[in-house]
Amino acid sequence: MRIGIVGLGVVGLSTGVVLAEQGHEIVGVDIDQGRVHGLQCRRPPIYEPGLEEALNRNFERMKFSTDYSSLSDAEVIFITVSTPTVDGRIYLGYVFDAARKIKEVARGVIAIKSTVVPGTARKVKEITNLKVVSNPEFLREGNALHDTESPDRVVIGSDDKEAGDLIQELWSFTKAPVIRTTTDEAELIKYAANSFLAVKVSFINEIANLCERLNCDVNVIARAIGLDKRISPYFLSAGLGWGGSCFPKDTLAITSFARDVGEKLRIVEAAIEVNQERPFRALKLLKEVMGEVRGKTVCVLGLAFKPNTDDTRESVALKVVNLLRQEGAMVIAYDPKARSDVEMVTLDECITRADGVIIATEWDEFRGLEPKLRGKPVVDGRRVLDPAKMGQEFRAIGLGVR
Ligand code: UDX
Repeated sequence: MRIGIVGLGVVGLSTGVVLAEQGHEIVGVDIDQGRVHGLQCRRPPIYEPGLEEALNRNFERMKFSTDYSSLSDAEVIFITVSTPTVDGRIYLGYVFDAARKIKEVARGVIAIKSTVVPGTARKVKEITNLKVVSNPEFLREGNALHDTESPDRVVIGSDDKEAGDLIQELWSFTKAPVIRTTTDEAELIKYAANSFLAVKVSFINEIANLCERLNCDVNVIARAIGLDKRISPYFLSAGLGWGGSCFPKDTLAITSFARDVGEKLRIVEAAIEVNQERPFRALKLLKEVMGEVRGKTVCVLGLAFKPNTDDTRESVALKVVNLLRQEGAMVIAYDPKARSDVEMVTLDECITRADGVIIATEWDEFRGLEPKLRGKPVVDGRRVLDPAKMGQEFRAIGLGVR
């Protein structure tokens, strides 16, 4: 099949390379000339494990352009543009712009993969007069190719059976269970899934707060409750909270959408509030072990919003950095991939120069650092260190002082 992809970020590129691997012809379109040029030279604009290799393997079946007319004979066109938050609400302008441009040149079925609030696919249908399917993705950064090839489920929202069948056929190689729904339901499924996961993490983070008061260990609690199949062990790691390009944006989008239609998602709103407090928690623990931070050098280990990515969007680590600066600390940082305006140094230098250390992202290379860190004030914000190997000036999220 000839397949168009509009929006060449992590979702668009993962969709593109995975479908190219299945033998389809891919035409990728993006308004960002630099991005398109890079891809034409086989350079992906983002770091994602396996992406560059997959792009190279399938390069002869993939074309990239800024020109929408290259979509003219595509049978399916995925919309994978971003849907950022503006003034606390989802901004759908990029989706609608893409729809208008597609309408001018193409006749294929539109499949929306961007995360959009219920009713968006219906609006895109009104704009384009083409068949529109809602086909949300659930991929995690750092696992994007795997999650696209082997999803837990494929959701196909369609008010047109034939169009839905076509998209279902496209993903049949994944062998994943297929849920056929209306477009509104498919759009809501994505928000319900992400909100539930965000709630789960905020829930365990509240239990972590309680553990710190009770001299309990949240990891023990999480392990025990996670063995209950109804709860499951996933997304129960207490830490500095959730960041990234999805959870913060999507929880805001769905809570404001709910209010706009006259409902209040109280649990999701509470999860957001709990999450906003996490950087303050890190600072509180640091002050417990090193006193005031003013005039001192604090090393933040990890800036990415989670390991195995260079993405710092909505990263809690950067919120911690800002808090430390507001408190008058001098901040230095080390991250294997991510960069920011903080002074970046090597891991060893970061530890040597620091008066205090906060571990903000659970990169694998931070495990086993106990001998190097022992004796310094340290806050383990992601539970990567063994508390038994640390000294007195050590605090960890969800672990009371023993
Ligand atoms: C998420 C969803 O998992 C994915 O299905 C959706 O399509 C996009 O949003 P992603 O943003 O890549 O993917 O990150 P994910 O691995 O889900 O982690 C989200 C945040 O939660 C990270 O900041 C992570 O550190 C935090 N987290 C996750 C925890 O603090 N504890 C956990 O137990 C799990």
